[in-house]
Parts: sequence; C-alpha cells; structure tokens
Amino acid sequence: MRLPFIAGNWKMNKTVPEAIVYAKQFRRIVEDVTDVEIVVAPPSLAVHAVAEALRSSNVGVAAQDLYWAREGAFTGEISAPMIREAGAEYVIVGHSERRTYFAETNASVNLKTCAALAADLTPIVCIGEKLDEREHGETFAVLDLQIRTALEGLAPEQVGALVIAYEPVWAIGTGHHATADQATEAHRHIRRRLREQFGAEAAERCHIVYGGSVKPANIRDLLAAEEVDGALVGGASLEVESFAEVVARSRPATV
Ligand code: PGA
Repeated sequence: MRLPFIAGNWKMNKTVPEAIVYAKQFRRIVEDVTDVEIVVAPPSLAVHAVAEALRSSNVGVAAQDLYWAREGAFTGEISAPMIREAGAEYVIVGHSERRTYFAETNASVNLKTCAALAADLTPIVCIGEKLDEREHGETFAVLDLQIRTALEGLAPEQVGALVIAYEPVWAIGTGHHATADQATEAHRHIRRRLREQFGAEAAERCHIVYGGSVKPANIRDLLAAEEVDGALVGGASLEVESFAEVVARSRPATV
C-alpha cells in the first residue's frame, strides 16, 4: 500500500530566514497528517536550517540537486553525503529545469541517482516529455529512454524505494496541468516499464507522482487518477496555506 507522497519544490525561492518561518508554520498545520508522506525541497543553502526547523516532525526535507562525486574539486557543487549530513532524506534528480538550463542528461541523472542511493538518500527522479515530443507522438519513447538510462544498474529493491516524478515539461509552471487521463496513461506506462525491467514487486512499491501546475483546485482529480501516487508541487508549495491545502486534499479519506 503506497501512501500518497507530496513534495514541494521551492526552486530558487526563499532566503534562510524565510525558509525557517515557513517550516515552523507548516509543521504545525500538518502535524496531524499521518496518512501522507510530506516533503519540502528548499534551496540548498536552507536545507540544514529547514531540517532543523522540521526535526521530529512528519515533514521530510529534500535537496533539489546534487553532484555525484563524494567530495573534491567541483566548485559550486554539493554531494549526497553533504546533503544527508545536513538533515535531508531525499533529493530531486533530473528536474526539467536542470535538464533545460544546466545541461542535465539521462546519463548524469543515472550517476546522481546512484550517488544519492549510496548515501542513503531517496532520489525523486524526474522524467517527462516536452510539448513538441508529445505532439509528435513521442511521449512513450522519451519516457522509455529516460527510465532505461536513468535507472540503469539499479537493483530492484532500490527501484522499489524510489520516487519517480512524471512531469510533462509543458505542464510545469504553465497553469496547464495534465488531465487525469493523460496522467493515468503516462503513469501506467511507466509502471509497466518498471515491471518489465525490475520486476513486479519493485514496480508495485515505487511511488510514481505527478508534477506540473498542481494546486489545491486540481490535486484531488489528479490523485484520483489511476496509478498517480502523489505530486511534486512547484508554485503552489511556496505559500504555507496553499501547500498545506494540497496536503489536506491528498489524504486518502478525502480523495
Ligand atoms: P509547478 O512546478 O507546480 O510550478 O508547475 C512543478 C515542478 O517543477 O516540479
């Protein structure tokens, strides 16, 4: 039984003091929620402070990216062990903004995913097609390549513990979310591929969440869609109230 998984990706928003204020307010509002796995992903500078502010709460912390080496001469980068030590338990890997603006490739997503797992972080691996790829009927082919390459070499138990975020690029930050049918079709396809490549148990355990213009008004419909196990939320996670509302509407009894 997969609990709904809801993560808020703050992207490049919030200073450390702002992040702490958010975390302290948010933990109080969601403290009784035991039936949703809740995560926030602050900018890396605030990961440690937010993890401290959320200590002993039901809200986990994710970093938004990592570099795959453990340490060394890689100016500007942070490693999986550093993220873990700062108090995060999750890390987003392969977000479309990383792919678009920072030359992330499926191969680097694989290296980062492996590095995260080696440091005992749960990777939230983002995949998804661009608008022109969808319009050319290439959605499944794009997803296949992303899954095959990004998860190459992983053991079935590792895949079972992953979160995969299906985020159609055309839906991110645009206000145009996928319909429940589009989400179901993509998620079903992803789960089928996981079953073929890693076995039924891994495919059943793995969370496949949807991302792209999720907000309080559409979370119920999206979660009611078959095979959608939660959401990666960008814009609507920036305000405590709207993210808490997304969480409240994700509780199994309310969907
Ligand atoms: P959005 O972002 O909710 O603002 O569309 C989602 C994401 O990038 O994960």
